[in-house]
Amino acid sequence: MHTLAIPALLISLLLPLTVFCENCEKPYNVEILVSDDVNGDIKNLTAQGAITLHQDVFQVLVANQTIKKLCQNYVIINNELTVLQLLNNSIEDISPSAFNISATLALLKISENPLNTIKKGVFNEVRTKELDLSYNNIAVIEADALENNTYLEIIKLNHNFIKEFDPNWFTKTPNVYKISAIYNEMTKIPAYAFVNMTKSRPLKIRLSANRIEEIDPMALEGAGIIDMLKLGGNRIRELPGQLFVNKTIKSLQVDTNKLQCFPEEFFNSTLTELTFEDNTSFDCACLIRVKNFVEDRNVTVVYPAIICEDKSKGVQIVFNKDKTFKIPIIKPSTV
Ligand SMILES: *[C@@H]1O[C@H](CO)[C@@H](O)[C@H](O)[C@H]1NC(C)=O
Ligand SMILES: *[C@@H]1O[C@H](CO)[C@@H](O)[C@H](O)[C@H]1NC(C)=O
Ligand SMILES: *[C@@H]1O[C@H](CO)[C@@H](O)[C@H](O)[C@H]1NC(C)=O
Ligand SMILES: *[C@@H]1O[C@H](CO)[C@@H](O)[C@H](O)[C@H]1NC(C)=O
Ligand SMILES: *[C@@H]1O[C@H](CO)[C@@H](O)[C@H](O)[C@H]1NC(C)=O
Ligand SMILES: *[C@@H]1O[C@H](CO)[C@@H](O)[C@H](O)[C@H]1NC(C)=O
Ligand SMILES: *[C@@H]1O[C@H](CO)[C@@H](O)[C@H](O)[C@H]1NC(C)=O
Ligand SMILES: *[C@@H]1O[C@H](CO)[C@@H](O)[C@H](O)[C@H]1NC(C)=O
Ligand SMILES: *[C@@H]1O[C@H](CO)[C@@H](O)[C@H](O)[C@H]1NC(C)=O
Ligand SMILES: *[C@@H]1O[C@H](CO)[C@@H](O)[C@H](O)[C@H]1NC(C)=O
Repeated sequence: MHTLAIPALLISLLLPLTVFCENCEKPYNVEILVSDDVNGDIKNLTAQGAITLHQDVFQVLVANQTIKKLCQNYVIINNELTVLQLLNNSIEDISPSAFNISATLALLKISENPLNTIKKGVFNEVRTKELDLSYNNIAVIEADALENNTYLEIIKLNHNFIKEFDPNWFTKTPNVYKISAIYNEMTKIPAYAFVNMTKSRPLKIRLSANRIEEIDPMALEGAGIIDMLKLGGNRIRELPGQLFVNKTIKSLQVDTNKLQCFPEEFFNSTLTELTFEDNTSFDCACLIRVKNFVEDRNVTVVYPAIICEDKSKGVQIVFNKDKTFKIPIIKPSTV
């Protein structure tokens, strides 16, 4: 019993230290590349601890370094800066307040890092128009991770492992008009997904190449004008009619899904551009309606080679914007 009591006492003394002190060291000899303007000279500097600048520059690029964790105040910049990129630096974790930058950036890009979670406190106060977190290992973005960021306009999360689209990402981010999260693992678009994105300019939403099966009928409720909604390469069987009631969607992409037709309400919409099926299960009668719809409304059909099999008549109907071809179904020859 005595032999156990001493280590227990030691642990209880050490524990408060590990809880209250951030166990985070800023690495030495981190190479950073700095350029004065878009095409200007590139300077090669070495940061010892925090990254700081002593003059106004256009871009800071940190690439191929080893910085496992970005500690609090890791980047302290009080000079002018437009672009900050951290690429392929083995970043696993970013502490709240890691970025202490007074300038308003055009782009903050953190890519090709084994980063798993975007925590509250990291980006809420960072002034940047575009935040690009593509090509990391992000599975979780905390609901309030971007809250109150009034500078943000564009969020890119492409090629990560995000499973859930959270409408709360846009709480009090009144200027976000573009979200791009292609190649992730989302399975549904929830109700009121885009309600808190901006109302002052058309929205651009890219959710292609996910695993979306379900779109809540209220998904687009309360959203502003939608310039572009890209949902290609998902597992969508049905688009809820409510998506098209009293909404403005200009360009819709739903190619490479499992659709068989569009809902009635679709045919009343004011769409100007449509990219859709390449699935032979698409309903032939519906395809004719779509053809008439796009012709009557002068809708641009982006990939017009749409085929459906009318088995009863033994033909494939190939739909192009201006022409409809009927081709006999060729049965695979038996050897
Ligand atoms: C930067 O400088 C270091 C040390 O002088 C050198 O090893 C490295 O190759 C340089 N990097 C670039 C990208 O110029
Ligand atoms: C980082 O490494 C990659 C691959 O080795 C190389 O192509 C790239 O130029 C490097 N980036 C910088 C800024 O040194
Ligand atoms: C990432 O950086 C390491 C050096 O830290 C380098 O060996 C590797 O080629 C880089 N990878 C890419 C994709 O740039
Ligand atoms: C940001 O850096 C400044 C020094 O430039 C410091 O005074 C301030 O406390 C830092 N902010 C935070 C939130 O740590
Ligand atoms: C956003 O701002 C409100 C009001 O100032 C504050 O109560 C809240 O904690 C902030 N949220 C975050 C995540 O910082
Ligand atoms: C939208 O923003 C309002 C006010 O900031 C907030 O109460 C609401 O929860 C947000 N809705 C969503 C779906 O995030
Ligand atoms: C259509 O949407 C607008 C604004 O979102 C709203 O004011 C109006 O009541 C809606 N009309 C119908 C018929 O839902
Ligand atoms: C085409 O759509 C049907 C009906 O929804 C579905 O069962 C089938 O898997 C789809 N084909 C492909 C290649 O996705
Ligand atoms: C389509 O619009 C017409 C005319 O506004 C209306 O009578 C009809 O109910 C609408 N159909 C659907 C399915 O929304
Ligand atoms: C259809 O749209 C095209 C370009 O979007 C335009 O050039 C053409 O005049 C339009 N035709 C009609 C009949 O509105």
